[in-house]
Amino acid sequence: MYSQALNTEEASSDISPDADRFQACIDDEQRIEPNDWMPDAYRRTLIRQISQHAHSEVVGMLPEGNWITRAPSLRRKAALLAKVQDEGGHGLYLYSAAETLGVSREDLQDQLLSGRAKYSSIFNYPTLSWADIGTIGWLVDGAAIMNQIPLCRCSYGPYARAMIRVCREESFHQRQGYEIMLTLCQGTTEQKAMAQDALNRWWWPCLMMFGPPDTDSQHSDTSMRWKIKRFTNDALRQKFVDATVPQGHFLGLNFPDPDLRLDDASGHWQFGAIDWAEFRAVLAGNGPCNRERLEARRKAHADGAWVREAALAYAAKQRIAA
Ligand SMILES: [Fe+2]
Ligand SMILES: [Fe+2]
Repeated sequence: MYSQALNTEEASSDISPDADRFQACIDDEQRIEPNDWMPDAYRRTLIRQISQHAHSEVVGMLPEGNWITRAPSLRRKAALLAKVQDEGGHGLYLYSAAETLGVSREDLQDQLLSGRAKYSSIFNYPTLSWADIGTIGWLVDGAAIMNQIPLCRCSYGPYARAMIRVCREESFHQRQGYEIMLTLCQGTTEQKAMAQDALNRWWWPCLMMFGPPDTDSQHSDTSMRWKIKRFTNDALRQKFVDATVPQGHFLGLNFPDPDLRLDDASGHWQFGAIDWAEFRAVLAGNGPCNRERLEARRKAHADGAWVREAALAYAAKQRIAA
């Protein structure tokens, strides 16, 4: 998921026949492919967006990975394991898509491991109970779908095509999360309370996932003109709230927002003010789990060193044999 929050684009200053052809192609809803001419700012914007998206998928495995050994049944364990594996796969598709723009996988990994890379703020919150796993699937993957469906029509071909499969998998993730919530909400008083507590903690961070309000989003017009982005942060956030609030009410849960109310005239759910200071603090590296996540990722990378060495040794042997 998870790309919208951090988007920033660079203004394009290209005025040339190539730039005219490029824009005409985009206006005509054609895809830009890796070998096509593209403005440097378009390339840099995509590298940043796709790599942040890839990092988010990879770091996103960690909060849920913590619960694989503690899943309450074999069925839940198998589903969670498959879901976490999917997120790793999403990261790999996205790193591959970023590589088509001329950046190396090693550079991208270095950026993540060194702490220089940005990834979605949502993955810096702790998973305290099994209900958090349900809530993440329902809300975080639900937000990912909202964000990523429009990316299936992104002007850059490799990114758009990767999103098609990713969105299908996110849909499975969202359903497995909602089903966990449904089970908890139909269970004992303690289980329902656990579900309510998880919603209380995750609701506001999920709304932050869509990124800063449109009034604070710089250069958004350029990304819309390039058709990398099809909807603004606020428009996607509103779509998410409108889709999710009835689902929460069906579960019998209360949203932790006294200002939440249905506006009859517009048909939209209005919601209270988001704490943007919290969002900025998490993005700056000061969320509840930023340091823990980075350490876990570095350890996983170090633990996998033998696999990389073995693969390189095998490749070298194959070359000699050939
Ligand atoms: Fe994903
Ligand atoms: Fe997912």
